[in-house]
This record gives sequence, structure tokens and C-alpha cells, in this order.
Amino acid sequence: MTSTPEPKSDSAGVVSDASRSGSGVGSSPSDFLLSLRGVSKSFGAVQAMTNVDLDIPEGQVTALIGDNGAGKSTLIKSISGIWAPSSGTMYWHGKEVNIHTPRAATELGIATVYQDLALCDNLDIVQNMFLGMEDTKFGLLDEITMELATVQTLKDLAVSTVKSVRQRVESLSGGQRQAVAVARAVMRESKLVILDEPTAALGVSQTAQVLALIKRLASRGISVLVISHNLSDVFAVADRIAVMYLGSIVSTGPITDYDTTSAVEIITTGTSLRATSPAPVK
Ligand SMILES: Nc1ncnc2c1ncn2[C@@H]1O[C@H](COP(=O)(O)OP(=O)(O)OP(=O)(O)O)[C@@H](O)[C@H]1O
Ligand SMILES: [Mg+2]
Repeated sequence: MTSTPEPKSDSAGVVSDASRSGSGVGSSPSDFLLSLRGVSKSFGAVQAMTNVDLDIPEGQVTALIGDNGAGKSTLIKSISGIWAPSSGTMYWHGKEVNIHTPRAATELGIATVYQDLALCDNLDIVQNMFLGMEDTKFGLLDEITMELATVQTLKDLAVSTVKSVRQRVESLSGGQRQAVAVARAVMRESKLVILDEPTAALGVSQTAQVLALIKRLASRGISVLVISHNLSDVFAVADRIAVMYLGSIVSTGPITDYDTTSAVEIITTGTSLRATSPAPVK
């Protein structure tokens, strides 16, 4: 793990106005868990992400919003080590890092829950929780220890609707599957959990469960970066918003600086004319 520079006294969760432009002007990467500066990614002639600056504070929920094709998945895949950015720099606790592989992301403490969840239907919850960890940290653990750890993790996250940790994942509801995927990320001692559209396929009560789970992660000091097209979910759970438009972050700031109307306006036009919700564009 990288060393952690001493945070400034007023830095925890407090973001200067200047950073609302997404330019990072006036904010130092050492004030944040993860910072991106000038990160770009192109696929051949397609410029999917252009000069992205983003600061992710510790223990807060940051919602990444934007229209289809805005570059959100490209951004999280770059943070998760799936895509190597074409240019730009990433900082983890202010220290420059190269996240060029998913393993590098995992080692830093970044866990990404993709929309398809990457759970194995034919395995039970315990087996899914420990999948891929067998020859690493928990290599010597027996079934009972793994089962107890699974039960404890679900309990810590107040996931109470799962009847048995020995039931196969195929028998779970969408919300329960999402909970297992998140619990799996948490059990890996993640510092940053990234969720791509976690509630897209869920009904009302399951959505409420997942949103509550996201809040619990943040209350445990874990940073969450959540992509969502559902603005009511965003306003229910996020501390901060970052809006992507045509591959750029055009507006970031505390959730209290936005309302649904201004957020929709920025998503669709890249800017907002409303005085209460300034969306400075670089
Ligand atoms: N592997 C790829 N090869 C070529 N172009 C890609 C690739 N992945 C993404 N793109 C392009 O990059 C742009 C951004 O795509 P991305 O998937 O990041 O958007 P998004 O914001 O996640 O959209 P959505 O909300 O629809 O999921 C799009 O124009 C897309 O076509
Ligand atoms: Mg996407």
C-alpha cells in the first residue's frame, strides 16, 4: 500500500469551490483518495474520454452521471485497470500510480462491481465470496472459516434477507445478488467500491436495499463511485456529483449544488444556466 501524506486539517470531504469545475484547480491530489488529472482515452479515432480531472474523497458517495456514450464506463474501466489511459495521471492518496491491470486496482483497494456482477450462478454464496482468493490471503482457510467470514460480512452490511449462505446464487433475487457482489468487494478490504448501474435491473424495495448498502459502505469510511441514470437514486444516496458530457467532466460538486432540473440540463447540454447550480465549463 502506498504511503499516505498527512491530510490538510480541513481537507476531509471538504472540496474547494475551484474543484467544482472538475479542473482540480485549488485542490491537491493528496487531499483525496483518488485523483485523476488530464486522463484521456481513445479507441482508434474515437476519443472516448478527454482530459478528465476528478477527485474522489474518502468515505463519500460520488455519483458519476451522464448520457449514453458520455464516457462513464470508459472512465471506471480506466480506474479499474481494464483500459490503460492514452494519457494523464492518477494519484492514490496523492501518490502517482499506474493502474494498468485489474490486479493493480485490486491491490490498491479498488473493487468494481460491473453490471453483470461476475457472480457464478452454480456456486453458493460462500464460494462466490471467496472466488479467486483461494491461493492468496485466504488460501489456507477451511470451509467453516470461509462460511463464518461470509456470514459476518453480510451481517456487518446488515444484509438480512439472505436465508442461507450455502444457497446457490442462481436462487437469489437481483437485490440479493447485488448485495453479495458488494459484500465480496467489501470483504477484500476495498477502499474504493465502484458500482456500474447497481439498481438498473431492480424493483423498488430491492433498490432501497442497495441504496442503503451504499450508504453503509460510506459510513464505514469506504469511498463509493456509482454510475446511475436514475437521478432519484443519485439524489437519495450521493454526497457529490460528477457529470460527464461527450467524454469530459463538465461539472462536479456537492449534491446540494444541484437539483434534478439542473442535473438533467447539464447531462443533456453540458452546461447549466441556473445561477443556483453553476456548472463551469472549461
Ligand atoms: N472498446 C471500445 N472500442 C471503441 N469505442 C468504444 C469502446 N468502448 C467505448 N467506446 C466508445 O467510447 C464512447 C464512450 O463510451 P462509454 O461506454 O464509456 O459510455 P457510457 O457513458 O458508459 O454510456 P452508457 O450510459 O450508454 O453506458 C462511446 O462513443 C463508445 O462508442
Ligand atoms: Mg456505460
